[in-house]
Parts: sequence; C-alpha cells; structure tokens
Amino acid sequence: MEKDYLQQLKEIRDEVTRFMMTYKFGLREMDTKLTILKEEFQHFHDYNPIEHIKSRIKSPESILQKAHRKNIEMSLDSIKKNIRDIVGIRIVCSFNTDIYRISDMIQKQKDIMLIECKDYIKNPKPNGYKSLHLVLAIPVFMSDREEQVYVEIQIRTVAMDFWASLEHKIYYKYNKSIPDHLEKELADAATAANELDLRMEQLYKEVNYIKEHQVPDYDENYLGIDDVKLQIPKHFLDSFLKEK
Ligand code: GTP
Ligand code: MG
Repeated sequence: MEKDYLQQLKEIRDEVTRFMMTYKFGLREMDTKLTILKEEFQHFHDYNPIEHIKSRIKSPESILQKAHRKNIEMSLDSIKKNIRDIVGIRIVCSFNTDIYRISDMIQKQKDIMLIECKDYIKNPKPNGYKSLHLVLAIPVFMSDREEQVYVEIQIRTVAMDFWASLEHKIYYKYNKSIPDHLEKELADAATAANELDLRMEQLYKEVNYIKEHQVPDYDENYLGIDDVKLQIPKHFLDSFLKEK
C-alpha cells in the first residue's frame, strides 16, 4: 500500500518534471532564434533593433495559483492548453518600427505558429499600457516525441518598458487599486513616453538619412566596401576579376 503511494508520488513528480522541462527547452529554442536575429541584423545592418531581452519561466506554484484564479481544471493537459504564458519573453527595442520588424521576423519562421496577437500599441489599454503581445507555439523535439510549447512574447520600446515597470510597481504597492490622482499621473506619463518615442524615432530617421546620403571621400583609385571599413585598391580588384 505504502509502496503504491510512493510509486504514485514518484510518477507525479516525473510527470511534472517532464512538463516543466518542455518549457525550459521551448525557452532555449526561442532564445537561440532571437540571438540569431540579433547578431545577424547587427552584422548586416550595422544596427541592433533589440536593446535587451528578459525571460522567465513561471514556477509550478504560480502556475497552480493562476489555474486556480482562472478556474482552470487542475490537470497538466488543461494547464498546457489554457495557460499560455508559462514561458514569458520580453523584448525591449529602441524604436516603434523595430517592434513590428521583430514581430515579422519571428512570425515568418516556418516552425513558429502564431496563436494570438494583442496589439496594445495600436489599441493601448485605458491606463496607457502599450506593448505588442504574441502567443506563439513552437515545436520541441525530444527523444521520443515532439511537443508544441506556447511562448508569450511582449515586445515594447524602452520608454514603454519604463512606464510598464513603474505602473506595475504602483499597482502592487496599492494592492491593485491605484488612487485616482496617480492613475491620472500615469496616463500623462504614458502620453509623455509616447511623445518621447516619436521624437527619438524622428531624430534617428534624420541622422540615418544624413548617413545614407553622405558622399564618402575616398580616393578614386580605391573601391570602398561598407564605405570606410574596407577599401580595396581598384587595380587589385580588376586583376582579381580578370583571373576569374
Ligand atoms: P493574464 O495573462 O491572465 O494576466 O491575462 P491576459 O492574457 O488577458 O493578459 P494580457 O495578454 O493582456 O497581458 C499579460 C501580461 O501583459 C501581464 O502579465 C503583464 O506582464 C502585461 N500587462 C498587461 N497589461 C498590463 C498593464 O496594464 N500594466 C503593466 N505594467 N503590464 C501589463
Ligand atoms: Mg496572458
């Protein structure tokens, strides 16, 4: 009897460990994908659209709390289907346009399936919250099976992130009911953050325009690649091409 009980406990433990592991692998796969996008983009466009990335996996305790709060059946299958933010990744970008650029680059990948998209940038929440939320399903291949894992991605600018972290702190400090005057202050701050985003992006566009239209002042006998990084003597390139 006691052995049966212990055996049962061991089976549950193994099942939960396996369940949590698939999320760990899902996060790793997504991490690799994002690192590739970031490095490749940096290399070929000489610019990094991703400022930083934060990620977390919900602990089994908070998964159970959320299941309880949302009246979700307490089985692993039901939790897997209904709680889609066990893996959460936050991507913070410099500019608004980067958000959609990154979202497109992710969604174009063949093994990624878009499950849900909430655009709180086009439709901000009444309190001023802005971010692009994606729920994706990605495959994780294990020794004996393939599992689809849900991953929640929030993409936002530095200014949106600054606002959201402050709002989050205030929200919990006041036990989820923010006093009216602070709510108004936060809404104003959200407008200011939005203005800053627009101004910074405009400035960036202007600087970029100048950079792109600058005439490089190099010797006519030299052929520039990447403007100044590498200059190859023209006669060298001519003879190289002749040989081919
Ligand atoms: P839950 O995931 O169950 O909370 O509900 P949901 O799926 O309806 O929420 P949604 O996709 O709108 O938001 C999920 C996450 O976005 C939250 O866990 C927060 O990280 C973030 N978020 C959403 N709204 C706010 C907000 O008003 N303020 C801040 N600071 N974060 C928010
Ligand atoms: Mg959610």
